Amino acid sequence: MVLIAPSILSADFSKLGEEIIAVEKAGADWLHIDVMDGHFVNNITIGPVVVSKIKKISKIFFDVHLMIENPENYVEQFVKAGADLITVHAEACNNIRLIIKKIKDLNCKVGVSINPNTSVDKIKDIISDVDLVLIMSVYPGFGGQGFIEDVLPKIKEAKELIDKTGKKIHLEVDGGINDKNAKSVIENGANVLVAGNFVFTNKDYNKAIESIKNPKL
Ligand code: DX5
Ligand code: ZN
Repeated sequence: MVLIAPSILSADFSKLGEEIIAVEKAGADWLHIDVMDGHFVNNITIGPVVVSKIKKISKIFFDVHLMIENPENYVEQFVKAGADLITVHAEACNNIRLIIKKIKDLNCKVGVSINPNTSVDKIKDIISDVDLVLIMSVYPGFGGQGFIEDVLPKIKEAKELIDKTGKKIHLEVDGGINDKNAKSVIENGANVLVAGNFVFTNKDYNKAIESIKNPKL
C-alpha cells in the first residue's frame, strides 16, 4: 500500500495548524516535516519548537526530514518534540552508523537520505540498519521544484538492495512528485511518496492525495 506524506514546506504557514488538520482529514498517511539549517541547504525552515506545537494538534505520523549539518546534535530534541521517524542525509554525517544507533536508542524510527547526485553505494552497507531509505528527486532546499527523472533507476536499485535484506524497509521518494510521475515512482519500488507543492497548491487536498496514491496514468 502506497503511503502519502504531504510536506508542510508548501503549506500556508500563517495557518499551519489548520493545514495539517486538513491534509490529515484528506487522507494523508504521514506528515513530512522539512527541517533546514541554512548550511546543509541554502534555506532555513523550522526547528523542534514548531514540531512540538503541531504535535499537540495532530495524531498523524511525523516523518521528519533533517536537511541539516551535524544532525547528531539535534536528534534528541526532535524525538522529544514528537518525531516518529527521523531521516538524516548520508552527505551530512561523518559517522552515519553512530547517528543511526543514537536515533534508534531514542526509540525513534530512522531513515537515511541521498541527494540526486549521490550513489546508492554510499548507503549500501547500512541499509539493513534503517527503517527507511529516502531517495531525493530534487536537490534539497525548496519545494515546488521539477522531478529529476534520472533518479528512477536509483529508486529501482535501492528497492533491489532493500529486497535483499529481507527486511520491511520503507522506500520514500521526495521532490517534484505529482499525478504525472507518481506511477513510475511507484513502479520502480517506492512505497512512500512525499508531495508538497502538488498537494498544497491543489484546492482539493483529498483529490490531490488520491491522484498520487492511486495514479491512473
Ligand atoms: C525539499 C524537501 C521536499 C520538498 C517536497 O528540500 O525535502 O520535501 O518540500 O516538496 P515538493 O513536493 O513541492 O517538491
Ligand atoms: Zn523533504
